[in-house]
Amino acid sequence: MTDAIKSMQLYPRAERLLDDLAAIGIDDQTSLDVETLNRFDQLHYHGTEALDVAITQTGMKTGEQVLEIGSGWGGCARYLAHRSGAHVTAVELQDDYNRVAQDLTNRTGLAQGVTHLNADFLKAPLPRHGFDHAVSWLALFHIPDRARYLGKIYEALKPGGDFYAEDLYLIAPPDPAEQEDFQRHLFPNSLIDIESYHATLRDAGFEIADSTDMTEDWATFTATRLKAFREGRADYEAVHGADGYRVIETFYDKMAGYFARGLVGGIRFRARR
Ligand SMILES: C[S@@+](CC[C@H](N)C(=O)[O-])C[C@H]1O[C@@H](n2cnc3c(N)ncnc32)[C@H](O)[C@@H]1O
Repeated sequence: MTDAIKSMQLYPRAERLLDDLAAIGIDDQTSLDVETLNRFDQLHYHGTEALDVAITQTGMKTGEQVLEIGSGWGGCARYLAHRSGAHVTAVELQDDYNRVAQDLTNRTGLAQGVTHLNADFLKAPLPRHGFDHAVSWLALFHIPDRARYLGKIYEALKPGGDFYAEDLYLIAPPDPAEQEDFQRHLFPNSLIDIESYHATLRDAGFEIADSTDMTEDWATFTATRLKAFREGRADYEAVHGADGYRVIETFYDKMAGYFARGLVGGIRFRARR
């Protein structure tokens, strides 16, 4: 599955973040502060603003254990640990992302607060009832076998623990002619409609405390992101080259299109075990 996910244009080269840092004068050995890094290490919408909402809604605090599913460069995990004082176990499928994430966590001095685990979430060894919160940003739709991963999250949470996530859902499937392209660029393995989304959470034993439809907001976000990226082309190419620009532009264009054409929607929810 690690190779398959690389078809998505967001993921080919985890080290591109180190190029962004080098461009502002931070080399591979320099220690880092979380806030500087947050300009580059967030792979979901609205960066740390979205994470602040999570901290407030879950009441995450010092001494608690948090499980993050699909942690990418570790940007969410570091910020949560830094801001809330909780300990985060960050599970990431792609080993290059996990490697860069671990390096960045070490360099921000947060190694005590974040444990990185390079694994497919479905196979990750997790303690039973070990976590106060399970969180995830834009990763769940990638993972196959929804009933199995929801069951696994349920088992990993302490009784009374909560599950907070932002994710994509399916509004309308693409035409058959676009199906292969859609699969390649989004890598969706458990994309379902919103009613089924809620039903499968309940079937897994969760009680939904809150569910917000983010579709309109994320449609605007992805369109604005694409426009800004195109306007900043020269600066981006100066750091990442023409190929690097093309790869990310393709991904941003596809995502903005999926929202604008009403294929995918966004959900933010909090559910209780
Ligand atoms: C859009 S990124 C979001 C990363 C991070 N949550 C953030 O917002 O910065 C989704 C991440 O989920 C990871 N992922 C996908 N399938 C996974 C799986 N089965 N187990 C663990 N991680 C997975 C991907 O490799 C990717 O890094």
